[in-house]
Amino acid sequence: MPGMARCLVTRELPGPALHRLRSVHEVVVWQARLPPAPNELAHAARDAEGLLTLLTDRVDAWLLEQLPRLRAVSNYAVGYDNVDLEAASRRGIPVGHTPDVLTDATADLTFALMLAAARRLPAALAAAKDGDWVTWEPAKFLGYEVRAATLGILGFGRIGRAVADRAGGFAMRVLTASARQGLSEPVKELLREADFVSLHCPLTPETHHLIGAQALELMRPTAILINTARGPIVDHHALKDALERGQIAAAALDVTEPEPLPAGDPLLQTPNLIITPHIGSATRAARERMADLAVDNLLAALDGQQMPHQANHIPALGAA
Ligand code: DGY
Repeated sequence: MPGMARCLVTRELPGPALHRLRSVHEVVVWQARLPPAPNELAHAARDAEGLLTLLTDRVDAWLLEQLPRLRAVSNYAVGYDNVDLEAASRRGIPVGHTPDVLTDATADLTFALMLAAARRLPAALAAAKDGDWVTWEPAKFLGYEVRAATLGILGFGRIGRAVADRAGGFAMRVLTASARQGLSEPVKELLREADFVSLHCPLTPETHHLIGAQALELMRPTAILINTARGPIVDHHALKDALERGQIAAAALDVTEPEPLPAGDPLLQTPNLIITPHIGSATRAARERMADLAVDNLLAALDGQQMPHQANHIPALGAA
């Protein structure tokens, strides 16, 4: 078929989107459950013109050097911190991502974690199962009220706004601050004031370990931290210390550094800490729409057009 390009997709995706890609291009899908190691990815993609990656694939300058025919990278995520955008731009390679379609799913999970941490759900669930529910006890599993509490949202983009919408239903007072300048005065103010601090900023050099010892010290002893953004925004050593010393009340992390945490990682034993395996966008509808966008992005770029959701600025070349 004229114009047919070789594409590597680094995992099967839910929904029908990959059929559309297969109908016009030659598609190989990485079949293993675990992501390819860097050398495996370089080998599998060696002749590829199109690459559809997951957030678990590192697309760095080294990988791009191994792939001389590569013309497009489409990342199956709204975040693209796994892709070296500058290196791709230097090569004139457009990089796509999947905004909007996972906003509600991620905001819902943020609220689920907030409520679960506030009401100590993991401990209560375990007690009900493990025979520790012996009677109704006035002072057991006491948590925090969410209604009318103060919610601090760090990073007020699409997902931050969707979380704020939901907070309206709980009559919460919402504070917002940008994390672009790191631990700035407005961020410190938010940390001092909030009962719940929810992170919705991208991972950048400015937000790396933004929630470290200094930030945690500013938070209230009754405060709860929720991270559904990127693991490295929180310094885990500082968080563990803060939870053990009761400097904050609880935390819920849907993202960690690294992912997954290795067996035996001290964080797994830390009190008042909920960890979920990066499931912010894990609804069937969101993951299928992400696949649609990722395929739309790849098809457009391989056709020489601008991607509908392109993270870097590369002029479209016109039909290839
Ligand atoms: C993203 O899209 O960046 C999420 O972390 C996973 O869907």
